[in-house]
Amino acid sequence: MTPLIAPSVLAADWGRLSEEVGRVAAAGADWIHLDVMDGHFVPPITFGPQLVSAVKKSCALPLDVHLMITNPERQIQAFRDAGADIITVHLETCPHLHRTVQQIHESGAKAGVSINPATAVELLGPICADADLFLIMSVNPGWGGQRYIPASTARIAQTAKLIAESRRDIYLQVDGGINSETAKEALCAGANVLVAGTYIFGKPDYKAPIELLKKAS
Ligand code: DX5
Ligand code: ZN
Repeated sequence: MTPLIAPSVLAADWGRLSEEVGRVAAAGADWIHLDVMDGHFVPPITFGPQLVSAVKKSCALPLDVHLMITNPERQIQAFRDAGADIITVHLETCPHLHRTVQQIHESGAKAGVSINPATAVELLGPICADADLFLIMSVNPGWGGQRYIPASTARIAQTAKLIAESRRDIYLQVDGGINSETAKEALCAGANVLVAGTYIFGKPDYKAPIELLKKAS
């Protein structure tokens, strides 16, 4: 099955953001991935709902908003109002994960749950009945351009098993250090949505890397 490709604008030229988003859309991207960082859950600060709303105006693709922030439940409505179609929270930031997922659904968005590289995959089990997407971080969140952590492949396979057992359609997304080689590993393990920043935006032409990722399996 051809994977969905979600370019992360973290690696784009922010001075020409609408043009960059238009170029990846024309090159075959399926979703636009937006990395929101708060300087607490992860050290860097990126952007908030205003930028998501600017991207929404320049692009018809679904917006996939990855919240690397503490207390994400306070921000869900603002990101939804800004145009987020998928809102992913980190399990590590949600003591009341089920309630937060419900809140995302009530806002009208699809709900994703992400885990860091050292968080046990089993913790996703109880939320299988409700989540629309699982995001396995294949680097420690916070920065683009890092190397894929090899143990991620087994974690993706373990998540794929959980999803199969749940008999629900849950997207299995992987984020961090994705290139044509690591994409192959992730897809063979069962991932079906690839986030890629540097690998796409670091190239002069966006069509070739997106096509290579689509064909990686
Ligand atoms: C890391 C972010 C990723 C990152 C991926 O915290 O969640 O989306 O931008 O970047 P690359 O593809 O450069 O590893
Ligand atoms: Zn991300």
